[in-house]
Parts: sequence; C-alpha cells; structure tokens
Amino acid sequence: MSELISIEECEQLTAKQVHDLYRTYVSRSQVSLMTSFGFGRELVDRAEGCWVHMRDGRRILDFSGGVGVLNHGHNHPRILAARQRFGQERRMEVHKAFFSPYLAALSHNVAAVLPGDLNISYFPNSGAEANEGAIKMAYKYHGGKRNTIMRADISFHGKTLGAGSLTGSAENHFRFPGLPGIVIYPYGDLDGLRAAVARARTADGGCDVYAILVEPFSASSLRHWSEAALRELRAFCTAEDIVLIFDEIYTGWGKTGSLFYFMRHEGLVPDILTYSKSLGGGKASISGYTAREPVFRKAYDRLNDVILHSTTYYGFGEETATAIEAVNVVVEEDFPGRAREIERVLAPGLERLRRAHPDAIDRVAGTGALHGVFLAGGPRLFNLAGKLVPGFAHDPQFNTKLVTLSVIAHLYREHNIMTYYSPNVENPLMVAPTLAAGPAEVKLFLDALDATLSKGLTRLLTGFVREKVSSAW
Ligand SMILES: Cc1ncc(COP(=O)(O)O)c(C=O)c1O
Repeated sequence: MSELISIEECEQLTAKQVHDLYRTYVSRSQVSLMTSFGFGRELVDRAEGCWVHMRDGRRILDFSGGVGVLNHGHNHPRILAARQRFGQERRMEVHKAFFSPYLAALSHNVAAVLPGDLNISYFPNSGAEANEGAIKMAYKYHGGKRNTIMRADISFHGKTLGAGSLTGSAENHFRFPGLPGIVIYPYGDLDGLRAAVARARTADGGCDVYAILVEPFSASSLRHWSEAALRELRAFCTAEDIVLIFDEIYTGWGKTGSLFYFMRHEGLVPDILTYSKSLGGGKASISGYTAREPVFRKAYDRLNDVILHSTTYYGFGEETATAIEAVNVVVEEDFPGRAREIERVLAPGLERLRRAHPDAIDRVAGTGALHGVFLAGGPRLFNLAGKLVPGFAHDPQFNTKLVTLSVIAHLYREHNIMTYYSPNVENPLMVAPTLAAGPAEVKLFLDALDATLSKGLTRLLTGFVREKVSSAW
C-alpha cells in the first residue's frame, strides 16, 4: 500500500500534483477538458461571498453562482456558524431510531414558506434523488394503475438512471436504460402536451399518465412557461388526476426573483415541488421534495408504506441543520429581492451589450440572477471553426460551443471573471451570479463582457483554438 495522504498534506499539493492524481485516480479526460477551457490550472485557496481567491493571489469574481448552489455566496457566515455549532455541541446525525428536531423544524419551515397545502417534505441529497422520490410518490398515488410519465423535449432532471431517462439534454447523449412509459411533450406547449396525454390511454380508455414533470423556468435553456399555460396545465392535471411535479431544483430559493419561479403566479400550486442546490447554503448536500398533503396521504400514509422510500442519508443531521439556517437566511435577507436588484442592473446592461455588439450577440434572456447570452455562431464563424478544428465542421452545436467557450476563457483569463455555458440546446453563456453580488459586481461583469466582445468573435475564437484545443476534441 502506498502512503496515505493526510488533509494537511493534501492542502499542500501543487496544481501539477493534483492533475497527476486526477489523471491516475479520477479521470484523465476531466483534466484535458477543464484545462483546455483555461480553468483548473491553479488551485483555489479560499472563497468568500462572490469572490474566489486563488493560491497564486488572483481574485476571481464568481458569476457562475455555483450552478445554483451559491445563492448565499461562498461561506456565508451564518451557514458556517450553524455547522460549527452542530459539531461543537456534539449533535447526533446517524440513528433514525430517534426523532430529529432538525428534520421536524425544516419540514415545518418549508411548509411555512410554500403556498397552499404543500406541507409534507422529504430530504434526500441530490436533485436527481428528489425527482425520483417525487416520481415514486406519483406512481404510488395511482396505486401502480397508470404507467405513463411525461417530460419535456428540453429538460434537465438529473443523471441517475431514472432521472437521466427523463432528461432531454445534449449532456445526456448516451442512451442508458431508464424508466418505462416515458412520453415526451414540447416544452411550454400546452396543446402539444394535451395531445400527447390524449394518446396515452389505458385499455378502458382512461388516462394513463400518472405524472407530468415540468420546469416552469428552464435554467438550462432559459425558456419559461407562460403564466396562462401554467394555470391551464394546473387545471388540466386536476381534471385528469395527474400528479403535477414542478422541478425547481436550480431556480429555487430566490434565484429568479421570487422564492420559487412558480410563486410569482398567485394561487398556482403543483402537487409536488422538487428543489435542492442552495437549500444547503453552499455547504450541505441536501435536496428536497414537498407534496400536497392529499397526494402524500393517498400515496404513503399507512404503516405498511412508511419505509417504501428512504435513503441512508435522508434528513442527515448536519445537512438538515444547515438547511434550516439556509432557508432562514433566504427569507430574512430577502433573496428574491436581491435577485430582482441584480436583474435591475443586469437585464438592461445585457440588452445594451446586445445592441452594441449585434454581430456577436444573437439574443439575451433571463430573469432575476439567472441570465443567458446567446452568442452568434453564423455561417462565417461556422466555417472558421470547422477549419480550425477539422472533423467538427458538420456540427453546428460545436461551433456555438466553441465561440461561447472562447468568450468564457477570455473573461476568466483577462478579467478574472468566472462564467459557464449551458450544454443544453443552444449553449448560452450563463450569467448567474450568487446573490452576494450587488450592482457594483454586475457592472464589473458588464464592462468585462463589453471589452471582451469588442475584440471580435473571430479573434477570440482563433486565439482560443490556437492556444487551447486539445486532443479531447
Ligand atoms: C432543473 C434541475 N433538475 C435536476 C437537477 C439534478 O440535480 P443533481 O445534479 O443534484 O442530481 C439539476 C442539476 O443541475 C437541475 O438543474
């Protein structure tokens, strides 16, 4: 056996040593992919609020928002204190033979902030698990008598076998086995959805759909359902007794300018809501799903069914205590209001840049602290990308991806700003700051993007490809 590395030694490893360990024990391709984007060449020392401090002294403005995890920013002092307190007081997290006051309080608090009778919660650890738990509940609600589940053509619900089979994203290009009975409807299109439901009938002509999975706002494509369509969808599901599941795993806890996106529409209530990410305050791996009381009662509320769905870590002590504090911070610090503050500067700023750089930006979209810049990859640039990286000339997605990556890499290298792109559909550059950011940071970002685009996409693209494209492509 080789010598084991201690935590102290691990914190002294150089970037090269970490890359070597990744290559041998994690994934060689991950190292190629990350470094070819210009990321991952240095290691992080520490992070606070919307800033990441690198070991080489660089300070990076984090406009990725941790892909939804960091509404609180990095290392929010109240989140750190809650976790320290849990350890200092020697609290217990393991045995389910004791009732957990943390689990009880978190369920209560979630019910208190959600509308209607969304009252009964379950807390696993990832978004995919939350979706799968919600789907199991919907299936059990119908006693196994219905066999069809519907998901949108553009969707992201996770990557486990079950959730992955419900994900319609380019990220999910290999077909693994998955849930039976999946029917696909066009995103945001109620007529298309109704037609798909009408085709799914049981032998006696009844409705065969047990659940419809909906992202009211799709964080990966920046599309959204209209209010009217969502309300009609709610009425339709009630009439057909279909369990309506809203996946707000990314968009929850204030990110879009309301606590959850659907809550901007007064009186609209799904049957089950799934959420995760900032529920853990940027520190705990915890997700959740909350059901309307009648749905839960009919599905699971009898002794025989109590342990039909559980996982070892669900409601785990320190994660649950952290989530209590995270939700309290969301409410007390008015995260939806903060996201709207960001939107007030960011949305018109992006629109201004679109007008200033019509050759570079096709369109911008978004809400709250979740926006996307759709960069132009027109025929001229398309040909150029094909020439620069032979073998990919046939793939228009690759072209847009390459253009977007070149902008992301430039923002990171020259302006110390971190963003990311969504691999779903049109590959927008994602501008999704933590809610620790304010107007000053938004302005910094806008100026940097302006300066970057002023270089011209062709120059950015050729520079990026010359310097970075590795054999991974
Ligand atoms: C909308 C949505 N649903 C589900 C998931 C899956 O969550 P996880 O990666 O924790 O399984 C994500 C993750 O990004 C998401 O954005």
